[in-house]
Amino acid sequence: MDIKNQIDKNNVPQHVAIIMDGNGRWAEKRGLPRIFGHKNGVGAVRAATEAAGEIGVKFLTLYAFSTENWKRPKIEIDTLMNLLIETIDNEIGNLNKNDVRLITIGNTSALPKNVQTKLKYAIDKTSQGKTLTTILALNYGARAEITEATRKILTEYRNGKLDEMSLSPEVFGGYLQTAGIPDPELLIRTSGEIRLSNFLLWQLAYAELYFTPVLWPDFSKDDFFNAIVEYQHRERRFGMTSEQL
Ligand code: IPE
Ligand code: IPE
Ligand code: MG
Repeated sequence: MDIKNQIDKNNVPQHVAIIMDGNGRWAEKRGLPRIFGHKNGVGAVRAATEAAGEIGVKFLTLYAFSTENWKRPKIEIDTLMNLLIETIDNEIGNLNKNDVRLITIGNTSALPKNVQTKLKYAIDKTSQGKTLTTILALNYGARAEITEATRKILTEYRNGKLDEMSLSPEVFGGYLQTAGIPDPELLIRTSGEIRLSNFLLWQLAYAELYFTPVLWPDFSKDDFFNAIVEYQHRERRFGMTSEQL
């Protein structure tokens, strides 16, 4: 039976988050400059987006550029930014065809102006998408996000709009950039690295974590479906005992 048919349609995660890692190593293995890995990673983004839509995932968050990635060589950063623009131009038709809405998290106001313009265009053009919301994490870092949320809370407190006793995890979550979006039930990281790299630290509190050695440019629909099947075999206890479930 093919892997997609093994998926239980009644237990599909609403939200899947992916740390798309291993582009550089994919290229280096072939004796190519790192940027070829990024270029070849675009196909895996398309595959993951289509796979998610096909099985009824509602939110797909993709870690595309972290607050720490500014430490990379300028040439790599510039090429990544240009690739983002090129990818939006090439993929916008597909996103519309697949009824995908595109949004972003992260501090996009610090991205190059032409990238911001292109993102705004893509967000507007796809705003009617209902099947899947793809959330691109760009210049995203969880610590910056949590710090920013705390700053907003302090401002509301100072203005008398929030009192200290009404602050709860639910209220706090409403100040994060993911406000209104359910927490991911599943996190996938490719390339064999087993860490979170400052991704969605708050939202992943109870996510199932799935690590695969596959390098991002090689990540296929079947790899995505495999992760879903593995997720469906996990027992999510949320602090309870097995017997209670
Ligand atoms: C992930 O691939 C893409 C980004 C972080 C932008 P990497 O570029 O981190 O690839 P490796 O980890 O060096 O192989
Ligand atoms: C995490 O990958 C960021 C993205 C995938 C965008 P990195 O490759 O930057 O993470 P580290 O530095 O290996 O932890
Ligand atoms: Mg990496």
